[in-house]
Formats: sequence, C-alpha cells, structure tokens
Amino acid sequence: MPDVKNKSGIDAKTALFGLLGNPVGHSMSPFMQNQFLEQCGVNGVYLAFAVEKDAIGDAIRGMHAMGVQGANVTIPHKEAVIPHLCGMSKAAQACGAVNTLVYTPEGYYGDNTDGSGLLAALAAKNGWKAAGQKILMIGAGGAAKGVAVAMALEGAAEICIANRTVEKAQQLAEQIAALSDTRTAAISMESLQNPDLYKEYSTIVNTTSLGMSPNVDDMAPVCIEALNEQHLVVDLIYNPMETKLLRLAKAQGAKTASGLGMFVYQGVLAFEKWTGKTPEHIDDIESQLIERLTK
Ligand code: ATR
Repeated sequence: MPDVKNKSGIDAKTALFGLLGNPVGHSMSPFMQNQFLEQCGVNGVYLAFAVEKDAIGDAIRGMHAMGVQGANVTIPHKEAVIPHLCGMSKAAQACGAVNTLVYTPEGYYGDNTDGSGLLAALAAKNGWKAAGQKILMIGAGGAAKGVAVAMALEGAAEICIANRTVEKAQQLAEQIAALSDTRTAAISMESLQNPDLYKEYSTIVNTTSLGMSPNVDDMAPVCIEALNEQHLVVDLIYNPMETKLLRLAKAQGAKTASGLGMFVYQGVLAFEKWTGKTPEHIDDIESQLIERLTK
C-alpha cells in the first residue's frame, strides 16, 4: 500500500456543518465557513447539500440522528424547515424564516442572522447603528422583512417602506409596528422620486433585485440628486459589488455599502452560534470573496 497522507485533516472526531438549499452549487458559504473553521482551529468541515423540497424533513431528521452540529438554510427551505425545529429565536419567529440551525439534543434550534448580519456589517464597516435611525427601505419581500425586523428590534426610530405592490409594503409596515415601537410608513415606488423624502431619511436600503446581474442597468427610481454626504445607501445585492444605485449615490458623496458585508456577517453570526468562536480575519475573507466574485 502506498503511504497516503491525510491532507484534509479529517478524522473520527471531525464535526459536520452544512448548507441546505437548492440549488447550492453557486454558494460561497462552504468556502467562507471552511476558512472560519480553519482559522478558529475547529475540527470541522462544512458542505453544501442540495435538498429537494419534499425531503427537507427527512434531511433534518437524518442530520440530527447523525449529530450534525449546525447548518445554514437558504432558498427554498427558509420557511419549510420551521415545523421540524425544537424552538426559534425572536428574530426567526418575527420573520417566519430561518437561515441558521443550531444542534441541541432535543432537535435543531432555528435562528435568523440575515438582518442581524447586515446590522453587524454596517456597525463594523460604517460605524452605523439602527437605534434612533430613520430608514427608507425599498422592497417588501423576504429580504426586506429580515432587515426590517432586525432594525426594529435594535430600536430604529422609523422605517418607511417603498414597494411596487403598496399593499405588501403596508402589510410589512403593520407587522413591524406590532413588533416594536418603531414608527412605520408605506409608500409607492414612484414616491421615491420625491426629493423631500431624502431630507427625512438618511439611510436608504435597497432590498429588491433591481440592479442585480445581469440586469445591471436597472435601479429603483431613487431621486439621486437629493443624495449627499449625509446619506448612507445600502444595497443588499453583491453581484455586482457596486450596483448602479451605489455608483450614482457614491458620485453624490453618499456613503455606500454592498450586500457582501451582510452575507459575510450572517455567516459570522451563524458560526459563533455553532462554535462559540469569532473569526478574526473577516476582512481577509471578504477580499477573497470579492476576488472569487470578480474572477
Ligand atoms: P427576496 O426574498 O429577495 O426579498 P421576494 O420575497 O420575492 O424576494 O421579494 C422581492 C422584492 O423585490 C419585492 O419587494 C418586489 O416587489 P413586489 O412586492 O411588488 O413584487 C421587488 N421587486 C422585484 N422585482 C421588481 C421590479 N422589477 N420592480 C420593482 N420591484 C421589484
């Protein structure tokens, strides 16, 4: 027998972590989470699992039986996992969506680190805190809900939601108002053209897919001329890293943040919940992800 060295470092004590979604082939989570595991000296591996919709219950029961320590959950399973959990965080309950599973002997505990991930990224990179802020949010879908819930739970003063379908903005505004002391408002997408809006709201967050590759010339109808250095403009999109909205906002002197920070920090927060450890070289990982994205 040739002498084959175990280069992977995997042994009988290696813990398994994973991603449940479908498709998962494009995900950057395995690259990022395996870097975190290595950096923090955790004997573990993180793999991506493409799970069919009707197999999610079987997948979770199987994972638990085998002692899988933690997982991320992505499209299309963020809601479907809920009946299979032993408990859920306040944020996950309020969003009705779970992106993180944490092993307990009784079953998996569900959490949602998407919104808190964005807040952690904005705190780390822009020194921005939600408490007391007046925020203009564009979009009222699942991503908007995660962000609005996290901002409301962190004490945002006001969230105004602009959406193509105004009824959905109204529904989300009512949910947020019921959850917190945050004032809410719902407006049409066309109202974004009103320059006065930008005197009221200094943080603007795009949660829609407008501007995402390949439709890089799309943009919500934000009144760009009304933006200045007082504004922080956030786009949850990270492909491209700089959307048309961010490019034009930056040219006006506004501060900008792409969605890559949210992606990285939702992963950091999930990793902390699984291992109790915090990755230290987060900026390095982010640079490596940018390299992979722009390759
Ligand atoms: P996600 O989970 O990414 O938030 P979603 O729940 O399907 O996805 O929500 C998509 C959001 O982007 C919605 O606010 C949607 O507006 P509608 O509620 O009116 O559908 C918004 N959106 C998507 N494509 C859009 C477009 N071409 N113009 C304007 N808004 C758009």
